[in-house]
Parts: sequence; structure tokens; C-alpha cells
Amino acid sequence: MLTTQKEVLDIALAWQGSRALLAAVELNLFSTVGEGSTAAEIAERVGTDTRCTERLLNVMVTLDLMSKQGEVFINGPAASQYLVPDGNDYLSMLHHTAFTYRNWGALDQAVRAGTSTISTAWDSDEHRDAFIEAMHRRSRGDAENLVNSLDLSGVDHLLDVGGGSGAYSIALCQANKGIKSTVLDLPGVTQLTRKYVAEAGLSERIGTREGSYLETEFGAGYDLVLFSAIVHINSEQENQFLMHKAFEAVNPGGVIAVHDFIMSEDRLTPAKGAMFALNMIVNTRGGDTYTKGEISGWLMDAGCETLHSTRTGEMTSMLTARKPLA
Ligand SMILES: C[S@@+](CC[C@H](N)C(=O)[O-])C[C@H]1O[C@@H](n2cnc3c(N)ncnc32)[C@H](O)[C@@H]1O
Repeated sequence: MLTTQKEVLDIALAWQGSRALLAAVELNLFSTVGEGSTAAEIAERVGTDTRCTERLLNVMVTLDLMSKQGEVFINGPAASQYLVPDGNDYLSMLHHTAFTYRNWGALDQAVRAGTSTISTAWDSDEHRDAFIEAMHRRSRGDAENLVNSLDLSGVDHLLDVGGGSGAYSIALCQANKGIKSTVLDLPGVTQLTRKYVAEAGLSERIGTREGSYLETEFGAGYDLVLFSAIVHINSEQENQFLMHKAFEAVNPGGVIAVHDFIMSEDRLTPAKGAMFALNMIVNTRGGDTYTKGEISGWLMDAGCETLHSTRTGEMTSMLTARKPLA
């Protein structure tokens, strides 16, 4: 437990550093610095006020993201690797993080109302595309864990609900040459799915179905229905509905797989999952992080049996359940 005033103030003011970093990202300061530039040069290139830009750059120096030699600012190693868009390790997710910051400012209102009080939709096509790209990079990074957590024997056709870029469908199809997949996602996203799938050379095996998973028919005849990073977007009732839909769509003997943050029953562990629940409260109508007991309950209520759980990451697990043969 904390005991000092300083510890309390450190938490209370931590947002200032994070907001300064996000502002620098949104203003493209890291990519504009180049091999080293003055505040006046950077301000001219990005169209900002020179004095305020200099003060923001100074804070990047105090955060150890840049150095300052005389009047010249230079990216440090972490900024060059993670904050400049041309590298493989670029944190494209930060543009989405900057967007969600606006909703976090209304956390008290959301807690009063029991739901996000401002629009949760993507505010532009660029924002949608950047989010899907960020998800793609993240999912590519941990695809091996996901593939290893699933028994793919007997799987011919996969339904990847809210599959985004198709990163996991791509990994599953690459791991098992017999699999074909359908990625269901929102209008606007499936065109991106098709682009990523074509880049992977898998357009003949991975197709798309466009619409909201809450309204669009899933179809039938799947051996595996995957919900990866989907249940946290939805309310408990919506997830119960989705598991019933998946149960109808999957073949007897087939599997429904839920890959997500899985909370301890007291909802305190992992701590990042407890924080992520607030992220869902401010950014969705009814999203949350759920416990193993809750997710298992939805799968069992839908009619599944033989539940299996595998840890796939620091905060994530795969819960699979089978539809009985008869
Ligand atoms: C957090 S991303 C997960 C993407 C992918 N499944 C993964 O694990 O990397 C959530 C995905 O769900 C999609 N999505 C959100 N709401 C949806 C809805 N109502 N119907 C269909 N897709 C939806 C988003 O477009 C996005 O691709």
C-alpha cells in the first residue's frame, strides 16, 4: 500500500508525460527531427508555434526520448526505433491511443452513466486503417502462440469473427495447408483484410464476409470459430448471443475458441487487465474484461462441452470448447 504524498502525486500527474508524448506523436515531431533539427525548423515543417514546439521538445528530452545539443534536438534510440514510422517496430498503435485519450477524459461521466458517453466510432478512415495496421503488427508478433494453442487436426474451414487484418487466419492457414478461412468484419475493414491476405499470397484460401457480427449471419459448416480480442468489446449479453450464434454455425465436433484477456475471479489480476476494463468502459457501449468463469459459462450455456484453457501471453489465454457430436 502507498504511504507518501509523493507516491499519490506521481499517480495523479502521470498523465502529463503520456499526453506530451502522444501530442509529439500526433504532431509527427519524431519523424520530423530527422538527423537533428532546431525547434524553429521542426515548427516550420509541421506548422506549429515555435515557442510551444520548443517546450514540447524539451519535455521529450526530459523523458529521455530525445537529446538536445545547443539548439538542436536529436531522437534517442527508443524514439528512432519505435516512434519513427518507417521502421518495423513503429508503434502505430499510439495514434489510436491518442484518440482514446479523449474518451479517457470523460471516465467519470462513463462510470456515472455505465457506458461511454461519447462517440466510440473511428473518426476517420485514416484512424480505422491505422488501428487495423496496429492490430496486424501485434497479432503477427504473437501468432505463433495462438497457433500452438489450437488443435488444428480436422479443421477445414475456420470462421474468424472480427478478424481484422486476417493476421491470425493467415498464420493458421500457413500452419496448416488444409485450412481455409472466412474473416467476418465491418464494412471498410474487409477491404483492408483482402489487402493483407493478398500480400500473404492467400487470397484463394481466405475470404471475407462483411457486416456486424451482431447482425450478419455467420453461415454454417465451420470446424473452428475464433473470437480473438472480440469479447472485451461487447457486453455480457452480446457475448452470450455471439456464443449461441457460433454454436449454430460450427459443425458437430467442431470448436469455438475465445482468445482474450482473462481476469482472475476477483478481477484484480492481471493489473493491466483491470486497467483495460476502464479502457473498454470509456471506449465502448458495453465492453469489459471477463473472467474465465464468465467466458466458460457462455460457452457451456450455448451447449458446448469439454472446455480447455491455454495461456498465450502475459494477459491473454485461449479458451476452447467443443460442440458435442450428437
Ligand atoms: C481488437 S480488434 C481484433 C482483431 C483480430 N481478431 C485480432 O485478434 O487481432 C477488433 C476487431 O473487431 C472488429 N469489430 C468491432 N466491432 C465489430 C462488429 N460489430 N462486427 C464485426 N467486426 C467488428 C474490428 O473492426 C476489429 O477488426
